[in-house]
Amino acid sequence: MLNPEIQKNLIAEGRNFIKSFSASPYDNFVSDQQLKLPQPPLVKAPMTEQALPLPRNFEDLDLRQDFIALLTERRSSRVYTQQPISLLQLSFMLWATQGIKDIRGKSYATLRTVPSGGARHGFETYLLVQHVEGLQPGAYHYLPLGHQLEFLHAVEDLPAAISLSLEGQSWASKASVVFYWSFLPYRCEWRYGIWAHRVALIDAGHVGQNLYLACAALGLGTCAIAAFDLAVCDALFGLDGEEEFTVYASPVGTISPADQKSEKAFYQFVEDEGL
Ligand SMILES: Cc1cc2nc3c(=O)[nH]c(=O)nc-3n(C[C@H](O)[C@H](O)[C@H](O)COP(=O)(O)O)c2cc1C
Repeated sequence: MLNPEIQKNLIAEGRNFIKSFSASPYDNFVSDQQLKLPQPPLVKAPMTEQALPLPRNFEDLDLRQDFIALLTERRSSRVYTQQPISLLQLSFMLWATQGIKDIRGKSYATLRTVPSGGARHGFETYLLVQHVEGLQPGAYHYLPLGHQLEFLHAVEDLPAAISLSLEGQSWASKASVVFYWSFLPYRCEWRYGIWAHRVALIDAGHVGQNLYLACAALGLGTCAIAAFDLAVCDALFGLDGEEEFTVYASPVGTISPADQKSEKAFYQFVEDEGL
């Protein structure tokens, strides 16, 4: 256990970090955008030579559309039945979380299915695919401009890699696919400087929530994950940990209504400890 005094100081640092985003102490701040420095690219360049086009015929999906029911049914699911999902379902989830609908200017901003402060969209999407029809298992990168996927590499013992990357949360290793989102700070800092990080923290929530809603519409299960191993995730996708690093993850899997009982067991400790 950490020394209680050190623990207390770390918590205070965390609080100060959040509060330090207040505008007033930095009224004279000048951003790189105001200094007319070159704008960073809107998306990361492809990492390989090949791009797999993703299907866009979302009208063929049997989507649940009742918005009230979707909000009511949205929940974190941690028990997966290990059935394959279709490429169209995966394509829909990628579009729902980071899909590009329009571009402003020649390449000033992308407008996507999620909102983002200043339309900076500082994230990239990576996947560990286990059971998706038509895709070989392994690591992938989403190319949102062309709505394509690129295959990065095979991964030895995928279930173990997923569990290790998510701090030993081994239930996630039964997912059909795991989403990992990285953050490229300068994409946001160019415009927002020291406030970029507040925007990024808020923006990540939009991405995660759209995945929850897309899964609810598809009848699939997901669970947001903040307890991931940063170094392991970064290494899986070749991220340098400085200009790009992992900030969020979400396994997605097929679910069965019968498993809701096991989901309830997740909170059994509340009963056991009389909380
Ligand atoms: C930012 C964030 C991080 C989370 N991290 C984890 C996690 O690492 N492991 C986990 O099992 N659940 C995680 N969750 C899921 C929460 O435990 C879950 O949302 C909460 O218990 C409420 O349940 P519900 O989503 O079914 O409403 C996370 C949720 C969010 C929004």
